[in-house]
Amino acid sequence: MTRVAITGTGLYTPAESISNDELVACYNAWATRENAANAAAIAAGTVAELPMSSTEFIYKASGIKSRYNIDKAGTLDIDRMRPRIRTRSDDEPSLMVEIGGIAAQEALANAGRSGADVDFVIVAASNLQRAYPAVAVELQAHIGSTQGFGYDMNVACASAAFGIQAAVDAVRMGNAKCALVVNPEITSGHHNWRNRDCHFIFGDAATAVVVEPLDTAVAKEKFEVLGTRLKTQFSNNIRNNFGFLNIAEETPRSWSDTLFNQEGRKVFKEVVPMVSELLASHLADLGLSTDQVKRFWLHQANLSMNQLIAKRVLGRDPSETEAPVILDEYANTSSAGCIIAFHKHQADFAAGDIGMLSGFGAGYSAGSVVVRRV
Ligand code: COA
Repeated sequence: MTRVAITGTGLYTPAESISNDELVACYNAWATRENAANAAAIAAGTVAELPMSSTEFIYKASGIKSRYNIDKAGTLDIDRMRPRIRTRSDDEPSLMVEIGGIAAQEALANAGRSGADVDFVIVAASNLQRAYPAVAVELQAHIGSTQGFGYDMNVACASAAFGIQAAVDAVRMGNAKCALVVNPEITSGHHNWRNRDCHFIFGDAATAVVVEPLDTAVAKEKFEVLGTRLKTQFSNNIRNNFGFLNIAEETPRSWSDTLFNQEGRKVFKEVVPMVSELLASHLADLGLSTDQVKRFWLHQANLSMNQLIAKRVLGRDPSETEAPVILDEYANTSSAGCIIAFHKHQADFAAGDIGMLSGFGAGYSAGSVVVRRV
């Protein structure tokens, strides 16, 4: 069987970042203004008073200190509270292609490849900018790939793991020689910045990985894929009702119903066992013990959640190097999170070192990829 490797990773980080203090000041100014405007209705008990947010709560509940954002000014404008994105003509690269393309070029450079070598592109993200043509097909043209094929997939925060499995399978079967999995996550566009209970969660970023046959790879640093595993289990606890049928539905949906919504506590309680069982059973089936794993590059949603998953798999608390954290700086960047952790925390791997990458989120969906440095 063809041995397959991840031969390069890339990351795009937006130039602007929003601190918890800046975010809370914006939300609280908006909520105070709304409460003043609704003072009579609040006094009459017909409208609920909006609660205030707090920096201390955000850090304590999530471990997040800041998040990158593609348009800080629009997101922090209390008359808007969402990024301001210039409407582009159909002849210009879409925003997802622009940022995904930057991550892709870095991943290809690290793999010692160029866009012309790529024959399979997957754009895997928790939201796609349009229905068609596929963003992946546009990205394929954008990077100068004229061979093969591309398609989009959406498996929410688990998209990177699902994309990597599809790329590994295609390369292993001989259907692709140089696959690119790109995760452009513009979470700020589908996030509800006016929902106090989750306004702090998300950040923007894009990541990319190159997947090739190990034997013909030219990269200096290669990670052989020892196995991939995916799992899904239906839940409404993370849901976004945005879709192409919204305009046809008889009862129009509220603005907030077409954005990210979650029951955070339930997600925490239900996803932790699902993911820890997936990771533990995947390692066992590969004949690996947990002490053979040098690092867990986990999806970055919530610090306590990550620590608990790693603790359940290891049977003890993980060290900072065993389960590195990037969500303090990046927040939850959906599918990009585990790849950012992998991209930033792989340089110390020696030949033979083993690591496990995992994405998880809405669906529920979860995936793991076990790699060994060659
Ligand atoms: N500022 C201040 N207080 C806040 C607040 C905010 N921004 N948001 C919520 N609170 C309050 C709540 O009102 C509640 O108060 P109460 O105890 O008086 O009722 C209290 O803090 C706890 O709220 P809760 O929503 O239960 O917090 P939590 O500890 O569950 O943390 C999350 C919230 C979202 C950080 C956490 O549930 C989480 O991360 N879950 C997993 C989410 C996840 O991974 N989602 C996946 C997306 S891919």
